[in-house]
Amino acid sequence: MLKAAVLVSGRGSNLESILKAIDSGTLDAQISIVLSNKAAAGALEIAAKHNVPAITVESRGISRAEHEERVLAALSEYQFDYLVLAGYMRVLSPEFLNHFKDEATGLFTVINIHPSYLPAFPGPNAYDDAFNDGVAESGVTVHLVDEQVDHGPILAQQRFGRRPDDTLDSFKERGLAIEHKIFPEVLQRLSKEGLKSVAPGVVKQ
Ligand code: GRF
Repeated sequence: MLKAAVLVSGRGSNLESILKAIDSGTLDAQISIVLSNKAAAGALEIAAKHNVPAITVESRGISRAEHEERVLAALSEYQFDYLVLAGYMRVLSPEFLNHFKDEATGLFTVINIHPSYLPAFPGPNAYDDAFNDGVAESGVTVHLVDEQVDHGPILAQQRFGRRPDDTLDSFKERGLAIEHKIFPEVLQRLSKEGLKSVAPGVVKQ
């Protein structure tokens, strides 16, 4: 069983896909806490609907260091093995990440989903950036977080093509459908086999 804390900032469709996978039995996981940096995040309602504890640690108006301290203090009340970033739109400092270091592997136990085929289109608006760039195909990436933004050992990636009649919305929708499939799948792999299985190139077997 994988125990996770999930950090969110917005709509929460990835959180929902994870909770649905848990409910349907395809993902053996427990979400100890959902933490949002925005009180208005739709993700908070999704957590409530699934009876998962959810809190807000507002980031507006305080420094990144102050916010991270408050997040760490809030998270210390809960038990979890992995920190899952499901649309968390803030960069985590190396100091923060060091609290989540797996000593055996040196990896951070922090997992992110990014809406591009990394290393292409890092940053907060990857679907828009890829679409506006006129790419023939883009993709979705789930990765372990390291000290660089949208970077770290890749756990899963899937491409999707741009169609001639695509609008930005239809393009995003197709990407999101992939996100909702591969994120729970990666978490299930982690649940069964731990870090070794998901980063075989990085972790000595
Ligand atoms: C997703 O596209 C995710 O890849 C990106 O932010 C978006 C969050 O969407 N990091 P949601 O809040 O999970 O619906």
